Amino acid sequence: VIELKFVNREEELKTLHELANKGTTLPIYLYGPEGCGKTRLLKEFIKKVNGVALYIDALEGEDPEKALLTTPLNILTDIVKDLIKEVAKPVGQYLCLSLWKILKHIETKLQIRGKPLIIAVDDITRAIGLSKVEWYTKWLYELIKKLQEDYRPSSILIIATTSEGKSLDLVMRHTYTHINLVWNLDKEAHQELIQQLKPPKNIDPEQLWYYTGGNPRATIDIAENNWNIDSWIQKIEAKLRPLIRTIRSLNLTNELQKLIEDPDNIEKQPSQKMEQLYTILVEANLFMYKGFRTINGKHIPKNPELGIGEYYAWQIPAYKHALEQLLQR
Ligand SMILES: Nc1ncnc2c1ncn2[C@@H]1O[C@H](COP(=O)(O)OP(=O)(O)OP(=O)(O)O)[C@@H](O)[C@H]1O
Ligand SMILES: [Mg+2]
Repeated sequence: VIELKFVNREEELKTLHELANKGTTLPIYLYGPEGCGKTRLLKEFIKKVNGVALYIDALEGEDPEKALLTTPLNILTDIVKDLIKEVAKPVGQYLCLSLWKILKHIETKLQIRGKPLIIAVDDITRAIGLSKVEWYTKWLYELIKKLQEDYRPSSILIIATTSEGKSLDLVMRHTYTHINLVWNLDKEAHQELIQQLKPPKNIDPEQLWYYTGGNPRATIDIAENNWNIDSWIQKIEAKLRPLIRTIRSLNLTNELQKLIEDPDNIEKQPSQKMEQLYTILVEANLFMYKGFRTINGKHIPKNPELGIGEYYAWQIPAYKHALEQLLQR
């Protein structure tokens, strides 16, 4: 698939560029629904940022050239060539843990002193594992201070991302990160994305919005499914069927029904069973806490139709619909 033209996110990019120039004392932890566009946003940002910037795809297993993106671009091949001799696999994980070494390599090629330094580490949880997430985010926090002393950049910005809900709980209980939400695309940007995918005439953009809530990956997925939304939902149902079995066996169907009606019921009608269900849905990356602001300070508004509450939400509306279907059978 060809990469689609980047749409929207102007405000986020503007804020990120400002932060890059100002620097932050705490690493920023970006968190949002799977496929909402965190990786793409970071890459677009790193490509155009003023200063010395480094993007690491922590999940890349094999290819250092895929795992790393730098600004200025020309230092990349040199670093990769230098590192490739000693790089361990999986590559992304190795790079996450070797930031120090990479910067040493960069420093031999170009001056970092007096310039903004930006580091983005993408998908840390899946790469280094839940058990190490707390340690790693703390380590990033310490890194800011050490980098300041050793390299004297004019500012430092470190960003990490995840879409694992479970990791959010772990990171949330500490004071050494800022947590910000990245959400699915807004309606206008979503329409732009759909137009790029050249939908057939009988496709109703409203229906795509209704099921994807503006999630770019889900939208692309539907396009690749020959725009057949019904069969796309059926595929989601097939994935969720075992989960419904578990939910039924634990007698949590009433609770699930309540969350389908309103995600905030998790908080409005608290109970042990609700907590049990919450854990299951968060671990399955279906449901999430959304009480944080976006990077540019916005609260994602409530939208009952899309399964978005004030503080909690379904990652994409299709999950809510698919679970509802399964419950009725
Ligand atoms: N603003 C955008 N404009 C155009 N395409 C986009 C945009 N945001 C995301 N995409 C596309 O949507 C797909 C999913 O985006 P991406 O991989 O960035 O999501 P993610 O939030 O990083 O997902 P995950 O949680 O799995 O890491 C990609 O193909 C990406 O290129
Ligand atoms: Mg990603």
